[in-house]
Amino acid sequence: MGFNLAILISGRGSNMLNIVNACDNKTLSSKVKIIISNNKNSSGLSKVKKKGIKTKIIDENKINKFEKKLSEILIKEKVNFICLAGFMRILSQEFLHNWKRKIINIHPSILPSFRGLNAVKKAIEKKVKYTGCTIHYVDKGVDTGEIIDQRIVKILKTDDEEKLAKKILKEEHILYIKVIETLEKEYNNGKDR
Ligand code: GAR
Repeated sequence: MGFNLAILISGRGSNMLNIVNACDNKTLSSKVKIIISNNKNSSGLSKVKKKGIKTKIIDENKINKFEKKLSEILIKEKVNFICLAGFMRILSQEFLHNWKRKIINIHPSILPSFRGLNAVKKAIEKKVKYTGCTIHYVDKGVDTGEIIDQRIVKILKTDDEEKLAKKILKEEHILYIKVIETLEKEYNNGKDR
């Protein structure tokens, strides 16, 4: 048995689609109950509509109103685990407290390096030799929560931001499935890490 998942996105949704596909083809035993976007122009939404998965847009600037609507949807859909996948909005401490260790995020760097926006660009500018991606529990800070797992990408001299982001994204897709698989096992074993 897996989770009843909600996936929160803001844009393209390739990580989201990857999770949806892994649930569809039973690589994961979780069920994607709903995709929620804070951005009505998020191109990810149309990618799953035709798969018959419920989608919702919460177009609300005020964080308390946004989270009230979000919470109502999560309860209605009986969601018990949340994946952030390119979700570019900060959630309040109160909301996160209610979802402690039940909400994870993917970030395109080896945290704690290059937190926040433009992580790929920052890695190139700093001339580091390796970067990658991280999945972490979400806490009140920006990309500061406990690290669950990471994958590494070597930066080549020929890499620009676009090339590097593409390589990292490939690793993100592998990592997200691997992490959910591990957390499903822990959940089934009744373990609360
Ligand atoms: C991904 O690279 C993800 O790591 C990043 O946004 C992209 C979303 O792509 N997230 C962050 O930077 C969060 N701080 P996707 O919409 O195709 O999954």
